[in-house]
This record gives sequence, C-alpha cells and structure tokens, in this order.
Amino acid sequence: MKVSCASCIKTFNIPDEKLPMGKKVSFPCPNCREKITLDLRIKPSDEDPDLIEKPAPARSDPKTDIGSRALKEKILRKLGDLPAMPQVVLKARQVMADPNSGVRDVVKVIETDQAITTKILKIANSAFYGMSGKISSIHHASVILGYNVIGELITLASSSGLLDRVLKGYGLGAGDLWLHSMSVAIGSRLIAARKNPALEETSFSAGLIHDAGKLVLDKYVLERKEDFDEFMEHGRETFMSAEQHIFGFNHAEFGFDVCKHWKIPDDISVAINHHHTPAKSSGIELAYIIYAADAIVNMAGAMAKMGGIGASIENLMYMIDERAMKFLGLNEADIGTIMGDIKESVGKMAGELGAG
Ligand SMILES: [Fe+2]
Ligand SMILES: [Fe+2]
Repeated sequence: MKVSCASCIKTFNIPDEKLPMGKKVSFPCPNCREKITLDLRIKPSDEDPDLIEKPAPARSDPKTDIGSRALKEKILRKLGDLPAMPQVVLKARQVMADPNSGVRDVVKVIETDQAITTKILKIANSAFYGMSGKISSIHHASVILGYNVIGELITLASSSGLLDRVLKGYGLGAGDLWLHSMSVAIGSRLIAARKNPALEETSFSAGLIHDAGKLVLDKYVLERKEDFDEFMEHGRETFMSAEQHIFGFNHAEFGFDVCKHWKIPDDISVAINHHHTPAKSSGIELAYIIYAADAIVNMAGAMAKMGGIGASIENLMYMIDERAMKFLGLNEADIGTIMGDIKESVGKMAGELGAG
C-alpha cells in the first residue's frame, strides 16, 4: 500500500502483508516523525484522500542577511565558553601531521597528560577494539592497534565528555548526541573502508564531531524554541531548514567554526561544513562519507521508531540522496550491511564506555 504522510507529504510503500488489516493503526512517519494514522477497517484505495493530505502552507519571512551575520558574530564571540581542546591533543595532532616525526614522538606528547592517557587506555581496552585488558601503555596501543588508530583514540578521548551534554533545544537527552556521533563515526569509517581506505581514521574522527555545531547553537535554539516549534509545526520542515530560516545559517556551517576554534585540521572542518549538503562541496569525498553515514544512522533510527510497520530499508531509501549513493558506489544491500555493522560496533563501544 502507498502511504503519504500528511505533514511532510513523503510517500512510501508498506507491503500489504505487514499491515494489520481490519484495524486502525498509528506510527511515526520515518521522515518527519509526525504521527500517521491508517484506518484499515475499510480497505482504502491508493487514491484515498485521507492518506494524501494537503501540504501545510509554505512559510516565508527568512531573517535578513544583516541580522543573520550579526547573530553569527555574537555566537562566535561566545565560542570561548566551549571547553578548548586540551593542549596535549593539539600538540599530538601537530606531531602526527609532521612527516618527520614518528610513533615515539606522539607517545611522548600524549603521556605528558595523565587524564588523556587514562582515557585512551580505557577506550583501547574496550571490546570495540577487541583488546580487553591487554593494552598497558600508549606505545603498546600504537604497536597493537596501529599508529593511525592513535589519532582516532585521541579524538574519542577528547570529545566524549563534550558530546554527552544534554541539548534541550535539539531535544537530546544525556548521551543521545554521543550515541549518534559514535554511530556516525563508525559508519563513516566503514564507508571509507569501501571507498577509500586511506580515509578510514580521518572519517572516524570527522564522523565523531560532525554535529559539534549543535553544542554551541543549542542555547540559541532553546531561546527561540517557539519560533522553531512554529516553523516545524506541520512537520514539513526539518530542524536543519528551521536553523537556516531562523538563524540564517545551520549547525553544519557552524560546525566549521567550532572546528576552527578547536584547531581541527582543515580537511575535517571543511567536510563537516558540508555534511548535509555534500553535492555543494565540489566533490569532497569526506563530506559524502559523513553525509551517508549520518543518513544510514537516521534510517536505522526511523526503522526502530516504526516498530515493524513499513520498516524496511527499501521503504526508507528516500532518506539518502541517490547522487551520494552513486558517488560512494553504494547500493541498497550495502546500506543494510553497513547498518548492521554499525549496530554491532556501537553495542560493543557504548555498553562499556558511555561518554565522559
Ligand atoms: Fe548534522
Ligand atoms: Fe548527525
């Protein structure tokens, strides 16, 4: 049966055998999460007007360029409120980027900071890396897990506490952003492994902090909660378009500024800038990778919420841009495999570590 959401007007197919004929059912729209109700007590036809409600009237009145720039500057001045990246992390990244330095140099830098060292060892010994209790030092971790994984461990150790924050404006509870970010990081690495293995570790780090812009914007979303609720009232608009409409910029663009503040390498910050609009990135592979991982994680979330009704990848393929699929050489079966692998890895990581 073809079902259209009254709010976002997306249409998707639900196999008839999955529908409880003869009953009235409700489930969240996989796209906008508004409630869809189907009355299956009378068999409806595809053209049933109740299933294809009229879209809500479009809204206009975007903020002016001047207002938007002034607000962005105001928020940028407050960036200092966000904890700085620990010095040791910046230094370790610098050393890793220097082709003349080696493992010993990086290890020496990291070991000057006891807190980061402890965190890295805890993560390295998690089931995620399959090394439970076997890694006793940073040097040992670099030998066993590989030099490149040290970069990944540094990003994890330094961002986990931040990503655990409650983001009231975005409706995210403690640990929600951390779980989403971990899932996107793992998904990004899996996609990179297929498309360009040289990008695996960078993809993981970029995936982990892709929504960092939300950490800063949350306060301002909360201050304008009514505007956001009103803009998204009919479920036709996404949070991202609400940001664009109300702020004049979005969390992806602002993520670029947060990355700059944290002195994150340019390849990552530029990709984060385009993680919702990879087609506008002039072919930046990393932007496509994070975009696709984010979409797959959101598809998995939608499937879980639908609780079985119409919850198949086939029905949710509209959530991922075809051009991105083509660019990355992914097909529907790959999406299913990646989704399953993300779930398995996140289970291993989240259970043992959490954030903090
Ligand atoms: Fe995002
Ligand atoms: Fe995201």
